Amino acid sequence: GRFRIAVIPGDGIGKEVAPEGVRVVQAAAHRFGIELDVEWIEWASCDWYAAHGEMMPDDWKHRLQGVDAIYFGAVGWPATVPDHVSLWGSLLKFRREFDQYINLRPVRLFEGVPSPLAGRRPGEIDYLIVRENTEGEYTSAGGILFEGTERELVVQESIYTRIGADRVLSFAFETARARARRRLTVATKSNGVAIAMPWWDRRADDVGRRYPDVAMDKQHIDILSARFVLQPDRFDVVVATNLFGDILSDLGPATTGTIGLAPSANLNPERKHPSLFEPVHGSAPDIAGLGVANPMAMIWSGAMMLDFLTHGTGAGRAAHDAILAAIESVLRDGPRTRDLGGWASTLDVGREIAERVAEP
Ligand code: NAI
Ligand code: MG
Repeated sequence: GRFRIAVIPGDGIGKEVAPEGVRVVQAAAHRFGIELDVEWIEWASCDWYAAHGEMMPDDWKHRLQGVDAIYFGAVGWPATVPDHVSLWGSLLKFRREFDQYINLRPVRLFEGVPSPLAGRRPGEIDYLIVRENTEGEYTSAGGILFEGTERELVVQESIYTRIGADRVLSFAFETARARARRRLTVATKSNGVAIAMPWWDRRADDVGRRYPDVAMDKQHIDILSARFVLQPDRFDVVVATNLFGDILSDLGPATTGTIGLAPSANLNPERKHPSLFEPVHGSAPDIAGLGVANPMAMIWSGAMMLDFLTHGTGAGRAAHDAILAAIESVLRDGPRTRDLGGWASTLDVGREIAERVAEP
């Protein structure tokens, strides 16, 4: 197939890891006969903001609507633009306007990367977090009354819809069904959040009736977090509402060594709008410009992009698997960036992975 990709490097190390991501994605596409039209976009960045007073041009949605995927670095440069302005002015607009209601984050421990969890071996941490990405606890419904007085009162609503819950739960069940272990853990807190969470549990039961072949269990978010640390080998697919999923999807990758490895996908599974693929990490101003950022999270996100573009089958799946194999191989005996205890540059690692993808 032939696909149009919009590459948005963004800020800081986003601008350093994006070219390595594209290098590897192109190498894999070439090897497996996928054609990509890559378009580099300089807006959705704090540099653009400095010149234009906003993060994106007014017609951004029109300009992106026709692409097959957005390959995104990271946005944020807090020295010049406050984080809520840069994030809400770009990434969060993409997620909401393009209805990217699935945020998918694989968590895997690789050989050659020490886990901060003592004694954990590769294979013992290998699960997938499915986070609801558009509703739930993250809303602007609410307000503050009597501000500045003793009677100050603040309300912030959580909003869940049946459509919103059912679609993320169905996606999670489908995903679990396609994996070897066929296990789904539903994050809940129905003992404390006594209206919304028992309802969420019922949605899970209802949707789950269509998936008798998937073993589902529900766990309260507090003990679930503890088990991410104590018994990570118990998990296969984990589904959670927006806030719980946000927290779990930083905790999970943290147990696997470096944030420089963790990828993510923001999906509109119906493909009415483009989906977005990005590393979990941000723009890392503390190391930006040094050429030492680990490009692996960006590269792995690119592998997820190719997989999604071809519906998890055929050439895109093969390209995905080849990229993952090359990352694993470089982690075993290739150059390493500083976060992994080495001295290699972003470019060294990107080139090495691209070479191993092209000629395994
Ligand atoms: P961060 O992820 O940018 O950095 C956290 C720490 O991890 C830093 O010490 C950094 O050097 C290190 N690090 C991150 N990625 C790395 C990589 N690829 N290789 C080696 N080391 C890496 O998070 P932080 O500092 O909280 O945020 C910095 C900026 O990024 C802020 O403006 C924030 O809003 C933005 N941000 C943007 C995100 C996005 O675009 N999706 C996500 C998270 C933060
Ligand atoms: Mg987060």
